[in-house]
Amino acid sequence: MATQLMSIRSGVLEGDVRVPGDKSISHRALILGAVAVGETAIDGLLESDDVMCTAAALGALGARIERGDDGVYRVQGVGVGGLAAPETVLDMGNSGTGARLLIGLVASHPFTCHFTGDASLRARPMARVATPLRRMGARFVAPPEMRLPLAVIGTEMPVPITYRLPVASAQVKSAILFAGLNTPGVTTVMEPAPTRDHSEIMLGHFGAEVGVTETNEGGRVITLAGQPEISGREISVPGDPSSAAFPAVAALLVPGSEIVLRGIGINPLRAGIYETLREMGADISYRNRRQVAGEPVADIAVRAGALRGVDVPPERAPAMIDEYPVLAVAAACAEGTTRLNGLGELRVKESDRLTAIAEGLAASGVKAEEGEDSLIIHGAGGAPPGGGRIESQLDHRIAMAFLILGMVADKPVHIDDASVIDTSFPGFAELMNGLGAEIREEPEAA
Ligand code: S3P
Repeated sequence: MATQLMSIRSGVLEGDVRVPGDKSISHRALILGAVAVGETAIDGLLESDDVMCTAAALGALGARIERGDDGVYRVQGVGVGGLAAPETVLDMGNSGTGARLLIGLVASHPFTCHFTGDASLRARPMARVATPLRRMGARFVAPPEMRLPLAVIGTEMPVPITYRLPVASAQVKSAILFAGLNTPGVTTVMEPAPTRDHSEIMLGHFGAEVGVTETNEGGRVITLAGQPEISGREISVPGDPSSAAFPAVAALLVPGSEIVLRGIGINPLRAGIYETLREMGADISYRNRRQVAGEPVADIAVRAGALRGVDVPPERAPAMIDEYPVLAVAAACAEGTTRLNGLGELRVKESDRLTAIAEGLAASGVKAEEGEDSLIIHGAGGAPPGGGRIESQLDHRIAMAFLILGMVADKPVHIDDASVIDTSFPGFAELMNGLGAEIREEPEAA
């Protein structure tokens, strides 16, 4: 059911909070737990719609996953190669990550799986995973444009491949590596530019043999020795830096604010937003740095202050690919112009995010120019007009970003359907309101 929210100008934001667990790491912890031998205990798992779709799919494939009263998820794994043919269609909801990673995982098993998802997921390209997985021996039955719903006919005799990614995508890289788990020999992925390396880190944490080397051209080569005996582990999932970026930007923009976000993952391949915001003049500091399950974690302290426009280098896009909606909001309030380039991948996210951002900015009275793979935003140097009605287009990050804009705008911002926020950040409005925001449900139209 659609939930219409409105966000009105906020008072000072103050507090010390945790955001929900990292979405990328949560999917991977469940998947590797499902194919490890024995029990994996996951603390801090993101309990969002996307991650629950992955958990349900892994259950249908034979893993047992239970949530304890302590909030810890315990996964009884079946061992590499031990997954069983599901009796149901695997419905991945809104989750591109869940769909692509699981399509890879099952491709090297001798059974057929049917995948589907919501309208947003059914519009997203799957050829990027089908092409390398076909080379490993899997077959696909899918619409001509290779989208969901589709069937993966897994192979009994998977062959290891060496594959150069045509796009910088951690989902494609991970799909191939996860297919490589039940494949004899060494599977190799070459990436033109480094993308989030949670799969590599977690495979190593589970005891698989993973090699990572840097190339002279700035890319990486990742190898995985197939059919490893991986055994259950304890995993603590850090707070999601992509979710943390929303309260962080809000605290930068609402004058007088000061907040601390506890236990956030600061993997450099995810933290591009914080680097960019600092270049814009933001007062953001990492405190109490530590290492959790091979991932760097810190508390992030944020204090409000004026921002200025910047040029964001296209090479940084993989490290902040999900943060352009909220960056656009920061840029809308900054002094001067912000230029964003190398944004082609935004067109195939949960929505065509480039157009969704540009339309949202226009509806909020912010001047912006949308190019094929670029966006130029002319900052208001303070509060933007706001007052728009934003179509979230089944995209959680569009909904959250414009709710943040409403917190600083002259007039309230309305979101047509904010229920999709639960795919990544359940409790978003409550957390923001706890810091001092005023995000409310719209009264029913008469
Ligand atoms: C993700 C990778 C990124 C990102 C997505 C999560 C992952 O997608 O946008 O939210 O967990 O691997 P791409 O691999 O398509 O860039």
